[in-house]
Amino acid sequence: MKQYLKQDEWKIIEEGLNPHYNQISESVFSLGNGRMGQRANFEEDYSGETLQGSYVAGVYYPDKTRVGWWKNGYPEYFAKVLNAPSWINIKLKVENQRLDLATCTVENFVRVLDMKTGLLQRSFVATLPGGKKVAVDAKRFCSMADGEIGAIRYQVTALNFSGEISIELSVDADVVNKDSNYDEKFWNEVYKEAQTGSAIVTAETRKTLFHVTTAMTYAIHSGGKPAAIKVGENMREKYADNVVQTEIKQDIPLVIFKYAAVLSSENHAKDKLVEHARAKLTEALTAGFDSLFEQHAKVWAHKWEECDITIDGDIAAQQGIRFNIFQLTQTYTGEDERLNIGPKGFTGEKYGGSTYWDTEAYCLPFFLSTAEEKVARNLLVYRYKHLPKAIENAQKLGFTGGAAFYPFVTMNGEECHNEWEITFEEIHRTSAMAYAMRDYVDYTGDQHYFTEFGLEVLIGIARFWEQRVNWSSDKNKYVILGVTGPNEYENNVNNNWYTNYLGAWTLRFAQQAINYVKGHDAKRYAEIVAKTNFNEKAETEKWKHISDNMYYPYDTRRKVILQQDGFLDKELIRAADLKPEFRPLNQKWSWDRILRSCFIKQADVLQGIFLFEDDFDLETIRKNFDFYEPMTVHESSLSPCVHVILASKLGYKEQAYQFYLRTARLDLDDYNNDTEEGCHITSMAGTWMSVVKGFGGMRVRDGKLHFTPFIPDQWKSYSFRVEFRGRVLKVKVSNEKTETILEHGEPLEVMMHGKPVLLK
Ligand code: BGC
Repeated sequence: MKQYLKQDEWKIIEEGLNPHYNQISESVFSLGNGRMGQRANFEEDYSGETLQGSYVAGVYYPDKTRVGWWKNGYPEYFAKVLNAPSWINIKLKVENQRLDLATCTVENFVRVLDMKTGLLQRSFVATLPGGKKVAVDAKRFCSMADGEIGAIRYQVTALNFSGEISIELSVDADVVNKDSNYDEKFWNEVYKEAQTGSAIVTAETRKTLFHVTTAMTYAIHSGGKPAAIKVGENMREKYADNVVQTEIKQDIPLVIFKYAAVLSSENHAKDKLVEHARAKLTEALTAGFDSLFEQHAKVWAHKWEECDITIDGDIAAQQGIRFNIFQLTQTYTGEDERLNIGPKGFTGEKYGGSTYWDTEAYCLPFFLSTAEEKVARNLLVYRYKHLPKAIENAQKLGFTGGAAFYPFVTMNGEECHNEWEITFEEIHRTSAMAYAMRDYVDYTGDQHYFTEFGLEVLIGIARFWEQRVNWSSDKNKYVILGVTGPNEYENNVNNNWYTNYLGAWTLRFAQQAINYVKGHDAKRYAEIVAKTNFNEKAETEKWKHISDNMYYPYDTRRKVILQQDGFLDKELIRAADLKPEFRPLNQKWSWDRILRSCFIKQADVLQGIFLFEDDFDLETIRKNFDFYEPMTVHESSLSPCVHVILASKLGYKEQAYQFYLRTARLDLDDYNNDTEEGCHITSMAGTWMSVVKGFGGMRVRDGKLHFTPFIPDQWKSYSFRVEFRGRVLKVKVSNEKTETILEHGEPLEVMMHGKPVLLK
């Protein structure tokens, strides 16, 4: 855990340049706008430790799989949203000396991310090796108002000299992925130009052939007026720039405005990209930095109105939740149904920017409650569109007859992951798609979704479970062998309870959807039956038999659910008793040692109890929580939020609060020692759930909103807002009272601590 960032309600603040933490800060201070984003790399040269990263949503490369020993069924590639051409560079030379913070003496370094307006700011005073001193003040944003525009205002002031300064303003497509499997470069050059005042490069991804045009223009002012400049244009492979020479006068700020346009062939015809990029540049230059920023900040103001959570009396907690909401919102805006939410968003390379079960299991509730209904629906439809690929994935592994096995990691529906214990064994993920449907239908009441899309998916997934179980004549039950549950610190186990429970539930849920569609639209039902070649009677009878006769491991002595058949053979010790130098286990212990231990990476039995809470009485929940929580090391970011929600339900207030800090400040305080690789974007939706479902106790039951709010002792009050079936509600909780205000829409009855309250 590192606590070098200052706490503030709306800002993330780093004071003093700390090269050792630079890559963490590059992640934390990242910017995005749903279409593109980048790590908080410096505009000027930096020869210190850095992970350079710019990303364009949906533009990926299938990096050839690399494994030690090939296993049949492995995918051929791992899809990566690759490091994209960079437009941020503003490289300064003062009389032939480069401004490079790794070689200069740096004072007064401050980096600030203003989450209210989505602005990254940096200021410092640097003394170049020859003694010349400059003060820099840089501001940058990726426009939320126009996802193809980015802008920088870079102000440099000479503090102890006047003289010549050279400014290199480039677009650079000669970039690499640090995690490239074979040290390949992923981009080819298609087009470049450097004219006085602008530079453009169009690059094409190898294999996938996406085109990305990155273009820049600029204006340079001295003392508020256009500066006299000399411009030289340069090009080399995948690179174009303007090198500007100008006079810098002591104490008179020189301001460089750099505007970028980033366009991809996902949104424009390839042969129109350059033309459209030029038009964007003109638009940006004409509008100017202040006006572009105003439009951008307006969008943020609106977003915050929809989804801000306020916490009074605890700055660390307030900063944490806003940071999570900010990062999540700038990663996925819900406007483009082809896109999804990568676990690292635009903040790093790890996880490839692809789609995981995280979206369905963690992110969906946030979008259900804070955005229009179509956003959550789009996320579901995204998986509907991948159904044919899920069927292919299943076929590759030997399943037949339309069984659908959704991938663990995907960009276009194909599996990309290549660790056998996850690719083949972490099978619970295929039912996350079914669970998301339940969440969506419960929340919105839109059962018609089954008719339009959902049922086809459910038939496919149910067929998968039907074939994946086997009958144990020893147990006289169905069992599921050789799996990995959500806890990835155990592989190839038998009867992971979570997996068995979810599988059996899916079979029942599919039946529910069949009943609905049959009862509401016989014609469409007949269509689905024909399309899926569905033998309703035979298949559903089998499904019922399986779900009625599923085996669930249980310890009758302790009266707890067993994570898997062999769990009790392990030495059961508490994570709190581990030596601090062993943590995080995944960086300190051999994999073998981890697998044999009882330590749980992330909620597993508790994940199941969280998802199916109403199936268990409070005592059962308590027993299982008390048993599993002490062995959980939370080395997946997805874990603490589930524990907040369950601890809240059990009245473990202090524990709930501590888990809340862990999920909300996971990246800000680098709890798991891995923020330098990027932020944990998908778990940020879990942080939102921690407040709304955890402290606020919000649930939907039988089409009604229920709340059972309480307030952590450390807080004076908190509030959140949710959209629900055409209404907007604000819930404000303090020590004295809970107020629920209907801000918009028809009157609504909600349940507050079990009692009906009519909101008007
Ligand atoms: C977790 C998975 C998760 C993945 C991406 C892993 O560490 O164990 O459950 O899907 O990260 O967030």
